[in-house]
Amino acid sequence: MTEIDPETAVEIKPDLWWVGWPDYHAGFSNNPYLIVEEDQVILIDPGSRHEDHWGWVKRKIESVVPLSSITMIIVHHQDPDLCAAIPLIEEEVGVGNFEIVTTERTALFIPYYGVKTEVTSVEDGTVLELTEGHELKFITTPYLHFPGAMVTYDTKYKVLFSSDIFAGFSIDWSLYANEYYLEAMKVFSQPYLSHHKHVLNFLRKIEDLDIDMICPQHGSIIPRDRVREAIETLRDLEVGIWE
Ligand SMILES: [Fe+2]
Ligand SMILES: [Fe+2]
Repeated sequence: MTEIDPETAVEIKPDLWWVGWPDYHAGFSNNPYLIVEEDQVILIDPGSRHEDHWGWVKRKIESVVPLSSITMIIVHHQDPDLCAAIPLIEEEVGVGNFEIVTTERTALFIPYYGVKTEVTSVEDGTVLELTEGHELKFITTPYLHFPGAMVTYDTKYKVLFSSDIFAGFSIDWSLYANEYYLEAMKVFSQPYLSHHKHVLNFLRKIEDLDIDMICPQHGSIIPRDRVREAIETLRDLEVGIWE
């Protein structure tokens, strides 16, 4: 088991950073990501407001850029492990000094955390151009696992930020998926993903994407050589099971 330095962000592609932390006791990791572009800094699913959890994420962000340089936070759905920390960011950098982007259904719940910054809603297929050749495409993923859930595809990095899809539970966590990750993914996906028809709908939406890396919100980053087997594992998996 490789312990990750809690103070160090990991650059997974040029100017794309993993700023998460592993919970070895619970057997899963929490994976916020940071995109640093010319004049934009985008934080994806910042996570928990627990002082340890947010402390690790914050220090990692600040090892790359000042917190105040964040221009946008993308929230893939409303769970506390994705967005409970946003009021803490507001406290430090000011309400309204960054944009929050999510779906309309998720936007309804963001203020429940005490978030005061206005939330921008995006729809299925909305494309946000960061710089020439660098776009973020938002793809809704209904019932995986929330009705208003979405994922984000980054055209420059060819990365799918997949939120709780392709996520994994494992006490033997590693930053990059190893040969055991498909089993970890099954353990997470069976109870969390609601129904096979929704999984198939999602897989149809991403089938034409050139995916170099899948970056889930829990578990391990799936590199290109394991993307196909991860997709096929989800396609064949019986989900909506709590045992
Ligand atoms: Fe979730
Ligand atoms: Fe989650």
